[in-house]
Amino acid sequence: MTVAEKWVPSVRYRGNHLLILDQQQLPHHTVYLNVTTIEHVWDAISKLKVRGAPAIGIAAAFGLALWSNSEKEVDHSSFLSKLKKQRDYLASSRPTAVNLFWALDRVVASAERSASVEEAKKNIEAEALLIQEEDENTCRKIGEYALSLLQDGDAVMTICNAGAIATSKYGTALAPFHLAKEQGWNLSVYANETRPVLQGSRLTAWELQANDIDVTLITDNMAAHTLKTKNIKAVIVGCDRVAANGDTANKIGTFGLALQARALGIPFYVACPLSTLDLKTSSGEDIPIEERPEEEVTHLNGVRIAPEGIKVFNPAFDVTPAEYISAIITEKGIVSGNYQEALSTLKEDESIE
Ligand code: MRU
Repeated sequence: MTVAEKWVPSVRYRGNHLLILDQQQLPHHTVYLNVTTIEHVWDAISKLKVRGAPAIGIAAAFGLALWSNSEKEVDHSSFLSKLKKQRDYLASSRPTAVNLFWALDRVVASAERSASVEEAKKNIEAEALLIQEEDENTCRKIGEYALSLLQDGDAVMTICNAGAIATSKYGTALAPFHLAKEQGWNLSVYANETRPVLQGSRLTAWELQANDIDVTLITDNMAAHTLKTKNIKAVIVGCDRVAANGDTANKIGTFGLALQARALGIPFYVACPLSTLDLKTSSGEDIPIEERPEEEVTHLNGVRIAPEGIKVFNPAFDVTPAEYISAIITEKGIVSGNYQEALSTLKEDESIE
C-alpha cells in the first residue's frame, strides 16, 4: 500500500465545518475534530492539533472560508474590512511558519478581486481549496527532486514531521520516502524523536510505519552517534520559514543536526515549498522564533519530570545558517551555493506563471 491508498488527510473542508486530524492524539487515536468556527481553527493551530507549515496555512485558509460562509454582512467594503480582522486574528495563532501568513494573504487577495459579498465568498472558498490542491502537487514534485539526490538502499535521517499529515499529501522532507515506496525502492529512515512535543516519535514514526517504510526511532541525543555509525547518506528536513539568504527556521534541533552533518561530511538538505520561502525576511536573524509553554518541557504525558519552580527555555524552532545547507529542494528544482540569487529567481519565476 502507498500513501495514496493509506492517505489520512490532515484537513477536510465540508463547507459549514472542517474536519481536522487531531495530531495531538496520534499515534494512539486517529480522530477528526469537528471544527465549526474560526475560534476553533485558531485553537487547533495554536495547540498543535494541526501542525506543520503547509497544513497550518491550509487550515487557516479554510478558517477564513468558515467565517465567510456564516458572515451576515451585506456591504462589500465592510465585509472586506471584517475579513482582514479575521485574517489578523488567525495570523496570531503561531508566529514562525510563514505559510500561515502566505495562505491568509492569498485568501484575502482573492476576496479583494470581487465586486460583491457573494462573489467574495465564492472566491474565498475557491482560493482555500486551491491552496490545498496545489500543495499536493508541490509536495509530489519536491519528493521527485529529493529522490534524485538519493539511491536505492540509502539510509537517511530526519527530524520532526514534515510528512503527509503536515501538508496536503506526501509531505516535504518525507515525500521522497513515500515516492520511493511507490517505485519499489528501499530507503531506510532514522527519525529523531523531537523533544519536547515528540513529532518524530508520535507522527513520523507512525506515518512511515503505517506506510511500510523502514523507519528506526532514535532519541535526539543519539543523532551524532547514529550519523557516524549507521552509514547515513543524507539528512533531510522540512522548514517553517526560509529567509532570502537561505537561512532556514525549522523544528528545534535542526541546527544541531546540520552541525553534526557538516562535521561528518554528510549532506544536509532542506525540503522547501516556495510557500515557505520568505523573501521579505532578509536573514535568519529576523525570523520570529516561537516560544511555547514550559509544561511541554517540564511534563511528559501530563506527568511532571522536572522540579517545581525550575526555569525553562522552550523555543519551538531554531535557525540553520545557509552555509550549513548543502541544497534546498523546492517544487521548481534544487538550489545550492548562492541562495540569495537562486531563491529570488525561483520566486520571480513562480509569480510570472
Ligand atoms: O511545531 P510544528 O510541529 O508545527 O513544527 C513543524 C516543523 O518544524 C516542520 O518541519 C515544518 O513545519 C515543515 S512541515 C512540511
